[in-house]
Amino acid sequence: MNDIGKLLYQVVPKNMSFESALLSQDLHFDEKDTSRMENSRQKESLLAHQCARKALAKLGNEVDAITKGIAGNPLWPKGFTGSISHSKGFCMAVVGRDENYRSIGLDIELNGRIKPAAIERITHSIEKDFIGDDPGKGTLLFSLKEAFYKAQFALFEKPLGFKDVAFSIDEATNSASLVWVSDKLPIKPAQYNQWEFVYKSIGTHTVVVCWLKNKTNN
Ligand SMILES: CC(C)(COP(=O)(O)OP(=O)(O)OC[C@H]1O[C@@H](n2cnc3c(N)ncnc32)[C@H](O)[C@@H]1OP(=O)(O)O)[C@@H](O)C(=O)NCCC(=O)NCCS
Repeated sequence: MNDIGKLLYQVVPKNMSFESALLSQDLHFDEKDTSRMENSRQKESLLAHQCARKALAKLGNEVDAITKGIAGNPLWPKGFTGSISHSKGFCMAVVGRDENYRSIGLDIELNGRIKPAAIERITHSIEKDFIGDDPGKGTLLFSLKEAFYKAQFALFEKPLGFKDVAFSIDEATNSASLVWVSDKLPIKPAQYNQWEFVYKSIGTHTVVVCWLKNKTNN
């Protein structure tokens, strides 16, 4: 396991399978794979999908490819759920069994890139006092919302705006909680605490993992 994996395993449940790779170190594709690729985002995607296949293989399921749904969402083999993210050379995937998890969301973001106007655009009024115009907290909030977006999409397939959900963040435990969700989603206030969010700062990047457990098996 590389250093990113070791750090993430401090906050991610042990029955999730996590794989990560760095574009600068781990890009070992066939010439024919990479020659078609115009930009690093496509190379990251290929590497992130390799991570997804390795994470699945660790849970005993070997596939040739993770296919995509109409929105670009990953389609996991029967019995599994997970999420993929890649940013500025960091590529990763997390996978769980659907007997344990109804859905999983993963997001990685490069720290310090978010501008004040973008923070304003993604921050719900409930979150304003905590987030302010702090770029570190802004990046974390953005990443929480992207991870949640991916996880909810697997269940509800809803397009959402950044102000359709609000979080509280607990810096002492590197975790966050849903505190408000718009009525675009069938998530009632009594169900907010079923969604779990953890985050970790890893060098230049922030990583968020969220999940909804499968209640029948937990
Ligand atoms: C889909 C989206 C979340 C991807 O996030 P991103 O930061 O651009 O990119 P990431 O590297 O983190 O994630 C990319 C991976 O997400 C996955 N993904 C793409 N669309 C997805 C969807 N609708 N649901 C779940 N996963 C999705 C794919 O595996 C993709 O990798 P790939 O293209 O290499 O296969 C983002 O582009 C988006 O459309 N967001 C909608 C707006 C939003 O987030 N609102 C927040 C409301 S709470």
